[in-house]
Amino acid sequence: MKYITLNDKVRMPALGLGTWKAQGDIVIQAIINAIKMGYRHIDTAMIYDNEVEVGQAIAKAIDLGLCRREDLFITSKLWNDRHDADDVLPALEASLKRLNLNYLDLYLIHWPVAFKSGVILPESSQDYQPLSKAPLAATWKAMEAVKRTGLTKAIGVSNFTLHHLESLNADSETPAVNQVEMHPLLTQKALRDYGKKHGMVLTAYAPLGSTDRAEGMKAQDEPDLFELSELKLMAERYQCTPAQLLIAFHINRGDSVIPKAVQTTHLSDNLAAASIELSKEDLTALEGLNRDYRFINGHFFDCPEQGYDWVFAHP
Ligand SMILES: NC(=O)c1ccc[n+]([C@@H]2O[C@H](COP(=O)([O-])OP(=O)(O)OC[C@H]3O[C@@H](n4cnc5c(N)ncnc54)[C@H](OP(=O)(O)O)[C@@H]3O)[C@@H](O)[C@H]2O)c1
Repeated sequence: MKYITLNDKVRMPALGLGTWKAQGDIVIQAIINAIKMGYRHIDTAMIYDNEVEVGQAIAKAIDLGLCRREDLFITSKLWNDRHDADDVLPALEASLKRLNLNYLDLYLIHWPVAFKSGVILPESSQDYQPLSKAPLAATWKAMEAVKRTGLTKAIGVSNFTLHHLESLNADSETPAVNQVEMHPLLTQKALRDYGKKHGMVLTAYAPLGSTDRAEGMKAQDEPDLFELSELKLMAERYQCTPAQLLIAFHINRGDSVIPKAVQTTHLSDNLAAASIELSKEDLTALEGLNRDYRFINGHFFDCPEQGYDWVFAHP
């Protein structure tokens, strides 16, 4: 397994297991299977409503002697109703309690959008905190403070554009990780350049196009990454599946990637994909497919009344 060293020297396995939309016994079994196969990095979040099961799976895997806690890299995320500085530590402690862990490896601000306390999904503009009252710089300062408690080894952000990163205080720590949507149709060149310059690693979410999310979240004419003709032809050459090529793309670029899978064949195919070596020319050809296309477009959090334009409006 390839590892990436984060800016604070924490080592993160480049391939992780995504768990959004995986719940109950299915996610428990998937995680145990994954750890048995060799996965060591698991991505969850308060909003996925599966932290208890993720914790149960980790405990079982350790009990079975498949790994030790220190071999694992566990990420969770601060939900949008916990951006007030005083709420960050209790939110992390609540995640740890659900996960039955005494530390996380990585804690992320999930979205650069703040809701009022207790709001899980907003129903009106009244459910948002005005951007002026909930600056990201203040939430990030509180993230720096929770890192000093040792309850998380590293801190980062998710769904941040350059615009959000630049709104953090100039003297603040650079987020160790920015977890964003990334695949050949959305290569995130500007964020990757920023990451290289400032020491911030990108983790690719929805690397396979997030095909199992609710129909209501999908655009009518959504592209199918597995059906891109250039990608299919290249996969044939490498004797792998299009899904494997999509995963190998990130590992070969030096980024991290967290495909979600619960089916055993998917889990093993994805792990094998992390060892596929792509030529420079093929990587460049895949990058050439970019058209800044987002499967998860973020419009569900538009709220101009409270200062939130489209979250991805500014590069
Ligand atoms: N920070 C954020 O805001 C954010 C947003 C979205 C996602 N994420 C994280 O990123 C993870 C991945 O993104 P995602 O879950 O949206 O979508 P994804 O990983 O792009 O796609 C998941 C779908 O691909 C299928 N799949 C997995 N491996 C496959 C393979 N080898 N061949 C064919 N199909 C395969 C899965 O099937 P099975 O499950 O049936 O095996 C599932 O239906 C999430 O689970 C979550 O942890 C973070």
